Amino acid sequence: MEASSPPTLSRLAREDFIGSSDPALRDESAERGRAKLLDYVELYRLWERQQWLTQELDFTQDRVDWHERIDPEERFQRMYGLSAFFIGEQRVTDELGPIMRAAPTEDQRIFLSTQIADEARHVRFFDRFYSEVGVFEAGDGVADRLRQTEEHLTPSFKQLFDEMLSRRVDRLAIEPEDTECLVEAITLYHMIIEGVLALTGQHFIIDYNEREGTLPGFVEGFTNVARDEHRHIAFGVRFLTQKANEDPKYREAIQRTMAEAIPVTEGVLEPPWDEEQDIFGVNREETHAFAAQCLSRRLKVIGLAA
Ligand SMILES: [Fe+2]
Ligand SMILES: [Fe+2]
Repeated sequence: MEASSPPTLSRLAREDFIGSSDPALRDESAERGRAKLLDYVELYRLWERQQWLTQELDFTQDRVDWHERIDPEERFQRMYGLSAFFIGEQRVTDELGPIMRAAPTEDQRIFLSTQIADEARHVRFFDRFYSEVGVFEAGDGVADRLRQTEEHLTPSFKQLFDEMLSRRVDRLAIEPEDTECLVEAITLYHMIIEGVLALTGQHFIIDYNEREGTLPGFVEGFTNVARDEHRHIAFGVRFLTQKANEDPKYREAIQRTMAEAIPVTEGVLEPPWDEEQDIFGVNREETHAFAAQCLSRRLKVIGLAA
């Protein structure tokens, strides 16, 4: 039987998100810092249940919306927001291998291996969207589309991914037993890049498209991406909670990395145009407030915020 008001895709997915126990989604318990976190095997099982196919998405209406319903100025702004995701997914796919290998337990490594597959799928999702919707005039293969997308990156983005994250991952590739470096890398990767940047962008981009009634294929795929990200963040919160309780030097590593990354992250969230102009229908204060609230809920669970 059909319900009188069918649930929207994003609401269904949001309910499903709870499955990952990401503290940012559990308002009450996370505010009190008592979220029940899934263990690594439970997170793996959740991954098996939450599979999806990029090849099943239908971008026919998205192509019409992009070229006929969205004006050139808005197209440019949307492309700016989406480019950071497309490249971001490519960067995190390429950087996760050494982090996975450096994780100390088999259960952690198995979960992180599933995450590598997820990040690769996210790159394919964006590549299919860019090519089938025709975001660029021409583009021959994923490498060419990524190269064209690179032109829209800001210095803050490059600093966060290509300097701060890469430096730690390079170190882990040659010194996998450097657990302090692993804690720093997971703080950057799971707490900052996924927890602050990705989820904030996803939240506002999905909401905006649903309000405007645009890009239905994209919204369906991006909702799946966001569900995956909550699972990844749940891994990061569990790992960092354990490490923070294990030794004060790891607590300091988390705090040090956050202090270094937060100003750069704020730069990544700033679009390079007029300050008064909204992006995806929200102003800068709303974006920053949302990002800060998600972060502080997770920090409470880790035991690093009052
Ligand atoms: Fe991703
Ligand atoms: Fe992720």
